[in-house]
Amino acid sequence: MITAFAPATVSNVNCGFDVLGFAMEGPGDEVQLALNDLQEVRITKILPETVKLSTDPMKNTAGVAIRSYLKAIDSSQGVDVVLTKNLPLGSGMGSSGASAAAALIGINKLMGNKLSNEELVPHAMEAERIACGSAHADNVAPSIMGGFVLVRSYHPLDIVKIPSKANLWCALVHPQIELRTEDSRKVLPEKVEIKKAISQTGNIAGLMIGLMKPDLPLLSRSLVDEIAEPHRIQFIPGYLEIKKQAKAAGATGSGISGSGPSIFALGETREVAEQAGERIQSVFKVNNVTSEVYVSPISDVGARILN
Ligand code: HSE
Repeated sequence: MITAFAPATVSNVNCGFDVLGFAMEGPGDEVQLALNDLQEVRITKILPETVKLSTDPMKNTAGVAIRSYLKAIDSSQGVDVVLTKNLPLGSGMGSSGASAAAALIGINKLMGNKLSNEELVPHAMEAERIACGSAHADNVAPSIMGGFVLVRSYHPLDIVKIPSKANLWCALVHPQIELRTEDSRKVLPEKVEIKKAISQTGNIAGLMIGLMKPDLPLLSRSLVDEIAEPHRIQFIPGYLEIKKQAKAAGATGSGISGSGPSIFALGETREVAEQAGERIQSVFKVNNVTSEVYVSPISDVGARILN
């Protein structure tokens, strides 16, 4: 029996639509894995029992990821999975990806670490495809690998961990609104104007340099999204005020976490992140939406074995 954990992630990080994400230290999902002699992957329990998720291993992201992994290493090993969901579904906190990441770290350990962490990512992407119809890697890669991760290319898959020197804290505010990634992707346009593409390219390059130098004013100027945010703010009550309040708290930047509706705000210290989180929560409250705030450093360690 083994227990593995994988953290929540913030993907996109404004200008990095589908190509950038970072890992929180917590919260995250946990899996307990025990090998069985049945040559079958079984999701035996999902906790808490109120969570509405399928135990069908072909529909549950932990099951899909493990099946894909076992196929890749040509194994017919069976395994029983108990999944503890701490991350809310449809939250933009990388919930579906965290279950897959924890499951992969766990099964890889049980099978003698046959694959590297980076090699686990495609199997978690298969799980994302089942969860939301798109095999994006910007949640699963940081959840598995930790830190800030860039998906330089999807075809072929080329994942780069960014050597960030910025010590940042993140407030992640989750409003009690469920937004399916699939729905949040449907509102995006097929084509992007050249002016917007130019601006987004400049910002992602600025963000990379800002992280690596580190240069926080540059990082701050670069945290702009021209592609997804304008189409997604319709799902988030009080969004413009949220951005104003995060700035007033001294946040380096803020935006929609992944496909939303959660909001992230980055700060140089825990205090700044906490202040930003509180102010964002107040805006949700004014809009009659209750929310939860999670404050954590950006963690360089992603999914891990707990015992
Ligand atoms: N990059 C993805 C999106 C993340 O924005 O749709 C989904 O969590």
